[in-house]
Amino acid sequence: MNLPSRLAALAFLSCAALLLHQQTTPAPSAPANVAAAAAPANPAPTFYRDVLPILQQHCQRCHRPGEIGPFPLVTFDDARAKAQKITAMVRDKKMPPWFADPCCGHFSNDPSLTPQEITTLADWAQSGAAAGNAHDAPAPPHWTEGWNIPRPDIVVQMPKAVELPSRGDIEYTYEIVPTGFTEGKWVQMSEIRPSSRMNVHHAVVYVRSPDSQWLRHAPVGVPFTASDLKSEEDRRDAHWTDADVLLVYAPGSSPDNWPADMAKYVPAGSDIVFQMHYTAHGHATHDQSSIGIVFAKEPPKKRVLTLQLTNDKFIIPPGVDDYRVEARGTLPNDATLLSFLPHMHLRGKQFEYNIVHTDGKIETLLRVHWNFYWQMSYRLAEPLPLKAGTMLQAVAWYDNSPKNPHNPDPSSAVYWGDQTSDEMMVGFFDVAVPANINKTQFFVRGTQQY
Ligand code: HEC
Repeated sequence: MNLPSRLAALAFLSCAALLLHQQTTPAPSAPANVAAAAAPANPAPTFYRDVLPILQQHCQRCHRPGEIGPFPLVTFDDARAKAQKITAMVRDKKMPPWFADPCCGHFSNDPSLTPQEITTLADWAQSGAAAGNAHDAPAPPHWTEGWNIPRPDIVVQMPKAVELPSRGDIEYTYEIVPTGFTEGKWVQMSEIRPSSRMNVHHAVVYVRSPDSQWLRHAPVGVPFTASDLKSEEDRRDAHWTDADVLLVYAPGSSPDNWPADMAKYVPAGSDIVFQMHYTAHGHATHDQSSIGIVFAKEPPKKRVLTLQLTNDKFIIPPGVDDYRVEARGTLPNDATLLSFLPHMHLRGKQFEYNIVHTDGKIETLLRVHWNFYWQMSYRLAEPLPLKAGTMLQAVAWYDNSPKNPHNPDPSSAVYWGDQTSDEMMVGFFDVAVPANINKTQFFVRGTQQY
Protein backbone atom coordinates (compact mmCIF):
# COMPACT_ATOMS: atom_id res chain seq x y z
CA MET A 1 0.00 0.00 0.00
CA ASN A 2 1.67 3.13 -1.15
CA LEU A 3 0.08 6.02 0.62
CA PRO A 4 1.08 9.58 -0.09
CA SER A 5 3.99 10.45 1.99
CA ARG A 6 6.46 13.16 2.47
CA LEU A 7 9.49 14.19 4.30
CA ALA A 8 7.91 16.97 6.25
CA ALA A 9 9.97 19.90 7.20
CA LEU A 10 8.30 19.81 10.52
CA ALA A 11 10.40 19.39 13.40
CA PHE A 12 10.08 17.60 16.59
CA LEU A 13 11.85 15.88 19.06
CA SER A 14 15.12 14.91 19.46
CA CYS A 15 16.22 12.50 21.61
CA ALA A 16 19.04 12.06 23.58
CA ALA A 17 19.81 9.61 25.74
CA LEU A 18 21.38 10.39 28.71
CA LEU A 19 23.45 7.67 30.03
CA LEU A 20 25.69 9.52 32.32
CA HIS A 21 27.49 6.58 33.66
CA GLN A 22 28.34 4.22 30.99
CA GLN A 23 31.26 2.27 32.24
CA THR A 24 30.65 -1.40 31.96
CA THR A 25 30.08 -3.31 35.11
CA PRO A 26 32.98 -5.50 36.01
CA ALA A 27 31.86 -9.07 35.73
CA PRO A 28 32.36 -10.96 38.93
CA SER A 29 35.64 -12.71 38.40
CA ALA A 30 35.06 -16.37 37.86
CA PRO A 31 37.99 -18.51 38.83
CA ALA A 32 38.58 -20.80 35.90
CA ASN A 33 37.98 -24.44 36.57
CA VAL A 34 40.31 -24.93 39.43
CA ALA A 35 40.40 -28.57 40.31
CA ALA A 36 41.57 -28.22 43.87
CA ALA A 37 38.77 -28.78 46.34
CA ALA A 38 40.02 -25.83 48.37
CA ALA A 39 39.45 -23.35 45.56
CA PRO A 40 36.66 -20.97 46.49
CA ALA A 41 33.50 -21.39 44.49
CA ASN A 42 32.29 -18.36 42.64
CA PRO A 43 31.41 -16.16 45.62
CA ALA A 44 27.79 -15.16 45.97
CA PRO A 45 27.25 -11.65 44.65
CA THR A 46 26.87 -8.88 47.22
CA PHE A 47 24.87 -5.71 46.99
CA TYR A 48 27.72 -3.22 47.34
CA ARG A 49 30.24 -4.97 45.13
CA ASP A 50 28.11 -6.50 42.39
CA VAL A 51 24.53 -5.22 42.40
CA LEU A 52 24.85 -1.51 43.13
CA PRO A 53 27.03 -0.77 40.07
CA ILE A 54 24.35 -2.31 37.86
CA LEU A 55 21.57 -0.34 39.52
CA GLN A 56 23.53 2.89 39.21
CA GLN A 57 24.22 2.45 35.53
CA HIS A 58 20.96 0.95 34.35
CA CYS A 59 18.18 1.73 36.80
CA GLN A 60 18.66 4.84 38.94
CA ARG A 61 18.01 7.26 36.12
CA CYS A 62 14.37 6.36 36.78
CA HIS A 63 14.49 4.52 40.12
CA ARG A 64 15.58 7.30 42.45
CA PRO A 65 13.48 9.71 44.46
CA GLY A 66 11.54 12.17 42.30
CA GLU A 67 11.90 10.21 39.04
CA ILE A 68 9.42 8.09 37.09
CA GLY A 69 10.20 4.70 38.61
CA PRO A 70 7.59 3.64 41.17
CA PHE A 71 10.24 3.14 43.89
CA PRO A 72 13.91 4.00 44.36
CA LEU A 73 16.65 1.41 43.86
CA VAL A 74 19.37 3.36 45.60
CA THR A 75 20.03 1.81 49.01
CA PHE A 76 20.57 -1.75 50.10
CA ASP A 77 17.15 -1.79 51.79
CA ASP A 78 15.50 -0.49 48.61
CA ALA A 79 16.99 -3.29 46.55
CA ARG A 80 16.65 -6.09 49.08
CA ALA A 81 12.92 -5.45 49.39
CA LYS A 82 12.58 -5.85 45.62
CA ALA A 83 15.20 -8.55 45.00
CA GLN A 84 12.78 -11.16 43.62
CA LYS A 85 10.86 -8.67 41.56
CA ILE A 86 14.06 -7.27 40.10
CA THR A 87 15.08 -10.75 39.01
CA ALA A 88 11.73 -11.39 37.37
CA MET A 89 11.75 -8.07 35.53
CA VAL A 90 15.31 -8.29 34.24
CA ARG A 91 14.99 -11.94 33.20
CA ASP A 92 11.89 -11.11 31.17
CA LYS A 93 13.73 -8.07 29.72
CA LYS A 94 10.91 -5.87 30.98
CA MET A 95 13.41 -3.71 32.82
CA PRO A 96 15.23 -1.62 31.92
CA PRO A 97 12.66 -0.67 29.26
CA TRP A 98 13.98 -0.93 25.71
CA PHE A 99 12.04 -1.84 22.59
CA ALA A 100 14.51 -1.93 19.73
CA ASP A 101 14.73 -5.30 18.02
CA PRO A 102 18.30 -6.59 18.35
CA CYS A 103 18.16 -7.34 14.62
CA CYS A 104 19.15 -3.87 13.66
CA GLY A 105 21.40 -1.09 14.77
CA HIS A 106 23.39 -0.24 17.87
CA PHE A 107 22.26 2.56 20.10
CA SER A 108 24.25 4.54 22.62
CA ASN A 109 21.28 4.89 24.95
CA ASP A 110 20.49 1.17 25.01
CA PRO A 111 20.27 0.50 28.75
CA SER A 112 19.91 -3.29 28.34
CA LEU A 113 21.74 -5.56 30.72
CA THR A 114 24.28 -8.11 29.54
CA PRO A 115 23.45 -11.77 30.22
CA GLN A 116 26.20 -11.65 32.85
CA GLU A 117 24.54 -8.72 34.65
CA ILE A 118 21.17 -10.50 34.61
CA THR A 119 22.80 -13.57 36.13
CA THR A 120 24.45 -11.44 38.82
CA LEU A 121 21.12 -9.91 39.86
CA ALA A 122 19.38 -13.29 39.84
CA ASP A 123 22.18 -15.02 41.79
CA TRP A 124 22.17 -12.21 44.32
CA ALA A 125 18.45 -12.59 44.99
CA GLN A 126 18.72 -16.35 45.08
CA SER A 127 21.65 -16.48 47.46
CA GLY A 128 19.86 -14.38 50.06
CA ALA A 129 20.50 -10.82 48.88
CA ALA A 130 23.59 -10.15 51.00
CA ALA A 131 24.75 -6.61 51.64
CA GLY A 132 28.49 -7.35 51.57
CA ASN A 133 31.00 -4.72 52.50
CA ALA A 134 29.96 -1.08 52.08
CA HIS A 135 33.58 -0.22 51.20
CA ASP A 136 33.12 -2.15 47.95
CA ALA A 137 30.47 0.32 46.82
CA PRO A 138 31.23 2.41 43.75
CA ALA A 139 31.11 6.20 44.14
CA PRO A 140 27.51 7.40 43.98
CA PRO A 141 26.63 8.95 40.63
CA HIS A 142 26.37 12.73 40.52
CA TRP A 143 22.68 13.18 39.88
CA THR A 144 21.42 16.72 39.67
CA GLU A 145 18.49 17.19 42.00
CA GLY A 146 15.35 17.35 39.88
CA TRP A 147 17.14 16.81 36.55
CA ASN A 148 18.80 14.11 34.49
CA ILE A 149 21.10 16.68 32.90
CA PRO A 150 23.81 18.58 34.79
CA ARG A 151 22.60 21.73 36.53
CA PRO A 152 20.81 23.79 33.85
CA ASP A 153 22.19 27.21 32.89
CA ILE A 154 18.62 28.41 32.60
CA VAL A 155 15.19 27.04 33.41
CA VAL A 156 12.22 28.23 31.35
CA GLN A 157 8.93 27.56 33.08
CA MET A 158 5.45 28.08 31.69
CA PRO A 159 4.49 31.40 33.28
CA LYS A 160 0.97 30.22 34.05
CA ALA A 161 -0.17 26.80 35.23
CA VAL A 162 -2.61 24.88 33.02
CA GLU A 163 -5.80 23.79 34.77
CA LEU A 164 -6.61 20.15 33.99
CA PRO A 165 -10.04 18.56 34.32
CA SER A 166 -10.64 15.26 36.07
CA ARG A 167 -11.87 13.48 32.95
CA GLY A 168 -12.43 13.66 29.21
CA ASP A 169 -10.12 14.43 26.28
CA ILE A 170 -8.00 17.53 26.68
CA GLU A 171 -7.23 19.52 23.56
CA TYR A 172 -3.54 20.19 22.84
CA THR A 173 -2.54 23.09 25.05
CA TYR A 174 0.02 25.73 24.09
CA GLU A 175 1.96 28.28 26.04
CA ILE A 176 4.36 30.78 24.46
CA VAL A 177 7.29 32.05 26.50
CA PRO A 178 9.67 34.73 25.20
CA THR A 179 13.32 33.76 25.82
CA GLY A 180 14.58 37.34 25.92
CA PHE A 181 17.82 36.06 24.33
CA THR A 182 19.67 39.03 22.88
CA GLU A 183 22.03 36.74 20.97
CA GLY A 184 21.71 33.32 19.36
CA LYS A 185 22.30 30.46 21.79
CA TRP A 186 23.59 26.94 21.24
CA VAL A 187 21.81 24.32 23.33
CA GLN A 188 23.95 21.33 24.27
CA MET A 189 21.47 19.63 26.57
CA SER A 190 17.85 20.13 27.46
CA GLU A 191 15.20 18.38 29.47
CA ILE A 192 11.49 18.82 30.16
CA ARG A 193 10.17 18.51 33.68
CA PRO A 194 6.39 18.33 33.86
CA SER A 195 5.08 19.41 37.25
CA SER A 196 2.25 16.87 37.02
CA ARG A 197 4.03 14.06 35.23
CA MET A 198 1.10 11.70 35.32
CA ASN A 199 -0.98 14.06 33.18
CA VAL A 200 1.59 14.72 30.49
CA HIS A 201 1.14 12.25 27.68
CA HIS A 202 3.77 14.00 25.63
CA ALA A 203 5.11 17.47 25.03
CA VAL A 204 6.87 19.13 22.13
CA VAL A 205 8.86 22.26 22.75
CA TYR A 206 9.35 24.44 19.68
CA VAL A 207 11.64 27.35 18.99
CA ARG A 208 9.70 30.16 17.30
CA SER A 209 12.24 32.45 15.67
CA PRO A 210 11.42 36.17 15.40
CA ASP A 211 10.69 35.88 11.66
CA SER A 212 8.17 33.06 12.08
CA GLN A 213 4.49 33.92 11.69
CA TRP A 214 3.39 30.81 13.56
CA LEU A 215 0.79 31.51 16.27
CA ARG A 216 1.36 35.27 15.95
CA HIS A 217 -2.29 35.93 16.84
CA ALA A 218 -2.09 33.80 19.93
CA PRO A 219 -1.62 35.17 23.45
CA VAL A 220 1.81 35.06 25.12
CA GLY A 221 2.46 33.74 28.62
CA VAL A 222 -0.91 32.08 29.15
CA PRO A 223 -2.21 28.65 28.16
CA PHE A 224 -4.47 28.38 25.11
CA THR A 225 -5.77 25.74 22.71
CA ALA A 226 -6.33 25.91 18.96
CA SER A 227 -10.08 26.37 19.61
CA ASP A 228 -9.33 29.58 21.49
CA LEU A 229 -7.91 31.15 18.33
CA LYS A 230 -10.21 33.38 16.33
CA SER A 231 -9.61 32.52 12.70
CA GLU A 232 -10.03 29.15 11.07
CA GLU A 233 -6.58 29.56 9.54
CA ASP A 234 -4.94 30.15 12.91
CA ARG A 235 -6.69 27.14 14.38
CA ARG A 236 -5.40 24.96 11.55
CA ASP A 237 -1.89 26.42 11.70
CA ALA A 238 -1.58 25.65 15.39
CA HIS A 239 -0.92 22.01 14.50
CA TRP A 240 1.37 22.41 11.53
CA THR A 241 4.48 24.39 11.86
CA ASP A 242 7.90 24.53 10.33
CA ALA A 243 9.32 25.90 13.56
CA ASP A 244 12.30 23.90 14.74
CA VAL A 245 11.85 21.59 17.64
CA LEU A 246 13.98 22.08 20.68
CA LEU A 247 13.00 18.83 22.35
CA VAL A 248 10.25 16.37 22.99
CA TYR A 249 9.10 14.66 26.13
CA ALA A 250 7.28 11.39 26.49
CA PRO A 251 7.39 8.89 29.33
CA GLY A 252 10.72 7.13 29.25
CA SER A 253 12.29 9.49 26.77
CA SER A 254 15.70 10.73 27.73
CA PRO A 255 16.77 14.33 27.80
CA ASP A 256 18.72 15.72 24.85
CA ASN A 257 22.45 15.55 25.18
CA TRP A 258 24.21 16.24 21.90
CA PRO A 259 27.73 15.14 21.05
CA ALA A 260 30.45 17.67 21.82
CA ASP A 261 30.62 19.42 18.45
CA MET A 262 26.85 19.48 17.85
CA ALA A 263 24.00 21.53 19.33
CA LYS A 264 20.56 22.94 18.68
CA TYR A 265 20.31 26.61 17.84
CA VAL A 266 17.95 29.17 19.32
CA PRO A 267 18.13 32.48 17.42
CA ALA A 268 18.13 35.78 19.33
CA GLY A 269 14.64 36.99 20.17
CA SER A 270 13.03 33.55 19.83
CA ASP A 271 10.08 32.33 21.82
CA ILE A 272 9.77 28.91 23.35
CA VAL A 273 6.43 27.30 22.48
CA PHE A 274 5.22 24.49 24.70
CA GLN A 275 2.77 22.16 22.97
CA MET A 276 1.34 19.89 25.63
CA HIS A 277 -0.76 16.80 25.23
CA TYR A 278 -2.40 16.24 28.59
CA THR A 279 -4.57 13.36 29.68
CA ALA A 280 -7.07 13.39 32.55
CA HIS A 281 -6.54 11.05 35.49
CA GLY A 282 -9.65 11.12 37.63
CA HIS A 283 -8.98 14.27 39.62
CA ALA A 284 -8.71 17.91 38.62
CA THR A 285 -5.18 19.24 38.88
CA HIS A 286 -2.78 21.60 37.13
CA ASP A 287 0.57 21.45 35.37
CA GLN A 288 3.29 24.03 34.98
CA SER A 289 6.09 22.37 33.04
CA SER A 290 9.65 23.67 32.77
CA ILE A 291 12.59 23.04 30.53
CA GLY A 292 16.18 23.08 31.71
CA ILE A 293 18.87 24.10 29.25
CA VAL A 294 22.64 23.64 29.33
CA PHE A 295 24.35 25.85 26.75
CA ALA A 296 27.26 24.65 24.64
CA LYS A 297 30.58 25.81 26.01
CA GLU A 298 31.66 26.93 22.56
CA PRO A 299 29.97 27.27 19.17
CA PRO A 300 29.63 23.77 17.67
CA LYS A 301 30.64 22.65 14.18
CA LYS A 302 27.25 21.14 13.49
CA ARG A 303 23.69 22.16 14.04
CA VAL A 304 21.14 19.53 14.99
CA LEU A 305 17.78 19.63 13.19
CA THR A 306 14.79 17.50 14.05
CA LEU A 307 12.90 16.28 10.98
CA GLN A 308 10.06 13.87 10.46
CA LEU A 309 8.68 11.28 8.13
CA THR A 310 4.93 11.56 8.43
CA ASN A 311 1.87 10.07 6.81
CA ASP A 312 -1.47 11.49 7.94
CA LYS A 313 -3.61 10.05 5.13
CA PHE A 314 -4.31 6.56 6.38
CA ILE A 315 -7.51 4.79 7.38
CA ILE A 316 -6.96 1.75 9.56
CA PRO A 317 -9.91 -0.60 8.99
CA PRO A 318 -11.73 -2.07 12.00
CA GLY A 319 -10.48 -5.41 13.29
CA VAL A 320 -7.30 -5.59 11.19
CA ASP A 321 -4.29 -6.77 13.18
CA ASP A 322 -1.38 -5.81 10.92
CA TYR A 323 -2.12 -2.65 8.97
CA ARG A 324 0.90 -1.10 7.26
CA VAL A 325 1.44 2.61 6.64
CA GLU A 326 4.58 4.10 5.19
CA ALA A 327 6.21 7.43 4.51
CA ARG A 328 9.27 8.15 2.39
CA GLY A 329 11.40 11.10 1.60
CA THR A 330 14.78 11.90 0.13
CA LEU A 331 17.32 13.98 1.95
CA PRO A 332 17.59 17.36 0.23
CA ASN A 333 21.23 17.75 1.28
CA ASP A 334 24.00 15.79 2.99
CA ALA A 335 23.30 15.18 6.65
CA THR A 336 24.49 12.97 9.47
CA LEU A 337 21.77 10.85 11.01
CA LEU A 338 21.85 10.87 14.82
CA SER A 339 18.69 9.52 16.39
CA PHE A 340 15.07 8.43 16.03
CA LEU A 341 11.83 8.86 17.91
CA PRO A 342 8.83 7.03 16.50
CA HIS A 343 5.40 8.24 17.54
CA MET A 344 2.13 6.30 17.33
CA HIS A 345 -0.81 5.80 19.68
CA LEU A 346 -2.67 2.84 21.19
CA ARG A 347 -2.96 0.76 18.00
CA GLY A 348 0.75 0.95 17.27
CA LYS A 349 2.44 -2.41 16.83
CA GLN A 350 5.80 -1.97 15.13
CA PHE A 351 7.78 0.88 13.63
CA GLU A 352 10.79 0.79 11.32
CA TYR A 353 13.23 3.25 9.84
CA ASN A 354 14.87 2.11 6.61
CA ILE A 355 17.16 3.31 3.89
CA VAL A 356 15.83 2.38 0.46
CA HIS A 357 18.93 1.90 -1.68
CA THR A 358 18.91 2.73 -5.39
CA ASP A 359 18.90 -0.99 -6.26
CA GLY A 360 15.71 -1.33 -4.23
CA LYS A 361 17.40 -3.05 -1.30
CA ILE A 362 16.04 -2.08 2.07
CA GLU A 363 18.38 -1.55 4.99
CA THR A 364 16.67 -1.41 8.36
CA LEU A 365 18.24 1.08 10.74
CA LEU A 366 15.81 0.58 13.63
CA ARG A 367 12.88 -1.73 14.33
CA VAL A 368 10.80 -0.96 17.40
CA HIS A 369 8.26 -3.29 19.00
CA TRP A 370 5.78 -0.66 19.96
CA ASN A 371 4.75 -0.01 23.52
CA PHE A 372 2.47 2.99 23.83
CA TYR A 373 3.54 3.65 27.40
CA TRP A 374 7.19 3.98 26.48
CA GLN A 375 7.75 6.49 23.73
CA MET A 376 11.49 6.29 23.60
CA SER A 377 14.25 7.81 21.61
CA TYR A 378 16.92 5.69 19.95
CA ARG A 379 20.31 7.26 19.45
CA LEU A 380 22.72 5.69 16.97
CA ALA A 381 25.94 4.51 18.58
CA GLU A 382 27.71 5.66 15.42
CA PRO A 383 26.25 8.73 13.72
CA LEU A 384 25.56 7.84 10.09
CA PRO A 385 26.65 10.26 7.35
CA LEU A 386 24.16 10.24 4.46
CA LYS A 387 24.36 11.80 1.03
CA ALA A 388 21.83 14.16 -0.48
CA GLY A 389 19.26 12.07 -2.33
CA THR A 390 19.32 9.18 0.15
CA MET A 391 15.80 7.80 0.44
CA LEU A 392 14.57 7.29 3.97
CA GLN A 393 11.48 5.27 4.72
CA ALA A 394 9.42 4.95 7.87
CA VAL A 395 6.99 2.05 8.14
CA ALA A 396 4.38 1.68 10.85
CA TRP A 397 2.17 -1.31 11.59
CA TYR A 398 -1.07 -1.06 13.57
CA ASP A 399 -3.13 -3.65 15.40
CA ASN A 400 -6.77 -2.57 15.38
CA SER A 401 -8.02 -6.02 16.37
CA PRO A 402 -9.50 -7.12 19.71
CA LYS A 403 -6.21 -8.99 20.32
CA ASN A 404 -4.53 -5.67 21.07
CA PRO A 405 -5.12 -5.17 24.82
CA HIS A 406 -4.74 -1.40 24.49
CA ASN A 407 -7.28 -1.07 21.67
CA PRO A 408 -10.05 1.28 22.83
CA ASP A 409 -12.43 0.20 20.04
CA PRO A 410 -11.63 -2.55 17.51
CA SER A 411 -14.93 -1.93 15.72
CA SER A 412 -14.04 1.53 14.45
CA ALA A 413 -11.91 2.68 11.55
CA VAL A 414 -9.06 4.85 12.77
CA TYR A 415 -7.78 8.09 11.26
CA TRP A 416 -5.01 10.56 12.03
CA GLY A 417 -5.82 12.71 15.05
CA ASP A 418 -4.50 14.20 18.25
CA GLN A 419 -6.25 12.07 20.79
CA THR A 420 -4.95 8.66 21.78
CA SER A 421 -8.08 7.01 20.38
CA ASP A 422 -7.01 8.45 16.99
CA GLU A 423 -3.71 7.45 15.46
CA MET A 424 -0.51 9.10 14.40
CA MET A 425 2.35 8.01 12.19
CA VAL A 426 5.38 10.15 12.81
CA GLY A 427 8.98 9.09 12.48
CA PHE A 428 10.98 11.88 14.05
CA PHE A 429 14.68 11.84 13.45
CA ASP A 430 17.59 14.11 14.19
CA VAL A 431 20.31 15.05 11.77
CA ALA A 432 23.44 17.13 12.06
CA VAL A 433 24.19 19.67 9.34
CA PRO A 434 26.81 22.42 9.12
CA ALA A 435 26.32 24.95 11.91
CA ASN A 436 25.40 27.81 9.58
CA ILE A 437 22.54 25.94 7.87
CA ASN A 438 19.02 26.38 9.21
CA LYS A 439 16.05 24.17 8.49
CA THR A 440 14.72 26.25 5.62
CA GLN A 441 18.13 26.26 3.94
CA PHE A 442 18.50 22.53 4.47
CA PHE A 443 15.31 21.91 2.52
CA VAL A 444 16.51 23.84 -0.53
CA ARG A 445 17.39 20.94 -2.78
CA GLY A 446 20.41 20.59 -4.93
CA THR A 447 22.25 23.59 -3.64
CA GLN A 448 24.96 21.70 -1.82
CA GLN A 449 26.52 24.91 -0.67
CA TYR A 450 28.47 23.04 1.93
C1 HEC B 1 13.45 4.66 31.81
C2 HEC B 1 13.08 4.52 33.19
C3 HEC B 1 13.36 3.20 33.89
C4 HEC B 1 14.54 2.49 33.92
C5 HEC B 1 15.86 2.83 33.26
C6 HEC B 1 14.28 1.34 34.76
N1 HEC B 1 13.00 1.36 35.21
FE1 HEC B 1 12.09 -0.06 36.36
N2 HEC B 1 10.31 0.91 36.18
C7 HEC B 1 10.12 2.13 35.58
C8 HEC B 1 8.72 2.48 35.64
C9 HEC B 1 8.09 3.78 35.13
C10 HEC B 1 8.07 1.41 36.27
C11 HEC B 1 6.56 1.27 36.57
C12 HEC B 1 5.79 0.99 35.32
C13 HEC B 1 6.09 -0.30 34.70
O1 HEC B 1 6.17 -1.33 35.42
O2 HEC B 1 6.25 -0.35 33.48
C14 HEC B 1 9.10 0.44 36.61
C15 HEC B 1 8.86 -0.75 37.28
C16 HEC B 1 9.87 -1.58 37.78
C17 HEC B 1 9.64 -2.71 38.65
C18 HEC B 1 8.31 -3.13 39.24
C19 HEC B 1 7.48 -3.92 38.32
C20 HEC B 1 6.20 -4.35 39.00
O3 HEC B 1 5.46 -5.03 38.32
O4 HEC B 1 5.99 -4.01 40.17
C21 HEC B 1 10.86 -3.27 38.90
C22 HEC B 1 11.17 -4.46 39.80
C23 HEC B 1 11.84 -2.49 38.18
N3 HEC B 1 11.20 -1.48 37.51
C24 HEC B 1 13.19 -2.73 38.18
C25 HEC B 1 14.11 -2.07 37.39
C26 HEC B 1 15.50 -2.42 37.32
C27 HEC B 1 16.16 -3.54 38.10
C28 HEC B 1 16.07 -1.56 36.43
C29 HEC B 1 17.49 -1.55 35.97
C30 HEC B 1 18.07 -2.81 35.60
C31 HEC B 1 15.03 -0.66 35.96
N4 HEC B 1 13.86 -0.99 36.59
C32 HEC B 1 15.23 0.38 35.05
C33 HEC B 1 11.10 2.91 34.98
C34 HEC B 1 12.40 2.48 34.72
